[in-house]
Amino acid sequence: MKAEALIEMRPFVRVATHDDIDRLVEIDLLCFDDVYGDQPPTSEDVHVMLTDRLNAAGELMVVGEVGGQVEGFMTCQITDKGPEDFITWEETTDNGHITGTHNPDGSSLYIVNMTVTPVGSEAGIGDMLIANMYGRFIERRKDSAQLLSRIPQFSKWLLEQEVEFSGLTEAEQDALAEDYIHATKPGKNGKPILYDGMLRRYGYAGAKPVKVIRNGFPDPVSHDYGVLCVVENPLGRARHNRVAASLAGKAIKYLSQKPTIVQKIF
Ligand SMILES: CC(C)(COP(=O)(O)OP(=O)(O)OC[C@H]1O[C@@H](n2cnc3c(N)ncnc32)[C@H](O)[C@@H]1OP(=O)(O)O)[C@@H](O)C(=O)NCCC(=O)NCCS
Repeated sequence: MKAEALIEMRPFVRVATHDDIDRLVEIDLLCFDDVYGDQPPTSEDVHVMLTDRLNAAGELMVVGEVGGQVEGFMTCQITDKGPEDFITWEETTDNGHITGTHNPDGSSLYIVNMTVTPVGSEAGIGDMLIANMYGRFIERRKDSAQLLSRIPQFSKWLLEQEVEFSGLTEAEQDALAEDYIHATKPGKNGKPILYDGMLRRYGYAGAKPVKVIRNGFPDPVSHDYGVLCVVENPLGRARHNRVAASLAGKAIKYLSQKPTIVQKIF
């Protein structure tokens, strides 16, 4: 294989452009099929939502390519809200458009979406997008980054516990959801790992759960619960130092293009 072809096969991340939107629509509909169920939005609606999202987010929307095809993307907005202010994903993100919620002067990031196809996951695009966004987070000297995680293995766990969830009171359901986010199972080496793969995935990237939110995100497999997670700026107090933040951010963005390195970190 020629050198140029090999370079094209290598996974890499870059800022999204309007030419990517058609592919991002396909990825959104594919990756959220369990959320959308039998009433998926139209491609046109998703196209408008993602175009608005890109217009507001600019360089805070990044895509990952594998073999010349985009296989994942991640978007952040800037916000002045803290974890206590978040109620639903829809309200927090202006129904995914972020037109009215992105506040460039805010002190925190909010991760609007992280969406990776199975091909992208296999190639390490998830880790690369997270690392690249970490670089942007540090470069912009923000205090923290927040995200609402789904808990898509909650329904499976309830089945294993033989719990009839719909027969419980709201208080009992909330208590079970709280228990679930700490539930573990044996990992490959026998050590306990978090039961929920998505929470575990965000945990590896430094996100700590702070609040379980009933009706946080319409998602049948998570019983509509979302878990608000917070990532603190790893530079601590040095985060306000322009030179340190710029150097560290650039270094992390550089490393984000190296799948074998970022896979070891996250
Ligand atoms: C979440 C996501 C971005 C993570 O991508 P990634 O970093 O490459 O990691 P993986 O795809 O390996 O997923 C991490 C874990 O989450 C689990 N997971 C991801 N999507 C899932 C789903 N729809 N249902 C159940 N579990 C899911 C994976 O099985 C995996 O757990 P495991 O290690 O026990 O197998 C990607 O899986 C995705 O796009 N999922 C669907 C869309 C979504 O829910 N995005 C997050 C909300 S914005």
